[in-house]
Amino acid sequence: MPDSVKRVKIARSFGSASNSYDISARLQRYSGKHLMPWLPKLKSQQDDFRVIDLGSGTGFFSDILASQYPTVIGVDLSKQMLNFAAENRSNKLNWLAADAYKLPFQDNSIDLIYSNLMIQWCDPLEPVLAEVMRILKPGGYFIFATLTDGTLFELKTAWQAVDNDQHVIDFKREQTLTNLCNFDGKDFSSLLIEHQTQDIVLEYDSVLHLAKELKGLGANQVPNKRGKGLAGKDKWQKMTSSYQKFVESDGVYPATYCVYSGVVVKNARPL
Ligand SMILES: C[S@@+](CC[C@H](N)C(=O)[O-])C[C@H]1O[C@@H](n2cnc3c(N)ncnc32)[C@H](O)[C@@H]1O
Repeated sequence: MPDSVKRVKIARSFGSASNSYDISARLQRYSGKHLMPWLPKLKSQQDDFRVIDLGSGTGFFSDILASQYPTVIGVDLSKQMLNFAAENRSNKLNWLAADAYKLPFQDNSIDLIYSNLMIQWCDPLEPVLAEVMRILKPGGYFIFATLTDGTLFELKTAWQAVDNDQHVIDFKREQTLTNLCNFDGKDFSSLLIEHQTQDIVLEYDSVLHLAKELKGLGANQVPNKRGKGLAGKDKWQKMTSSYQKFVESDGVYPATYCVYSGVVVKNARPL
């Protein structure tokens, strides 16, 4: 499937979840708030400081950014997400439908790009990081959280007992991300100056509860899945019984999320 078609599907999936997203977003809230202490403090005379919330979703964090910075633009692939954000967030904010692979901003024009749990949807990731670095000013910051390999390993393992289709998206390894963030190229260099990893285990009442949360977020799209539509009843039952090996003694169904967060600075070398 061409990458452009995959992105249309991702946008559609998130778009259809715009009304249910906020009540399902417990992981997203946690990881996004975790990035806040890294946000740079504005000095006086920085009225032209421009911030992008990349993959802004319902705009929860765009709103928080707008309380600290004069110009904040929420950018998302999904028009439905942007419509929800425009109706529900501060009218100080600006919204723009755009793809992280082709950002409609000039070179060296943005001071800060914040991005919470978006870049794991970008495969390949290299062109998105190059685009982020192109539009950042020298010395500008990219502050992000994403998910790494090991995320949803319980669900992935449970499906492996059923078939060899892909049911969970591929997440990058931590070292791969670190290497991508530390880049020394012809046009720019970038340096990962802070990073943290944390495994967060969320608790569910059942596998259905987990599946409903992923659907409520719009995060149930798996572009490389070969089989179309929902799994049949037999496959679903086989998968849920395979998940039982992870169930804790108190009946809780765990799901692990490996969160990688970081701060990347664009070099001060003139382009
Ligand atoms: C998990 S949501 C995170 C939303 C928000 N950042 C938050 O913390 O709640 C991921 C968002 O990224 C957007 N997205 C996915 N791929 C994108 C791309 N290539 N360009 C721009 N936005 C994208 C989706 O439409 C979705 O709104």
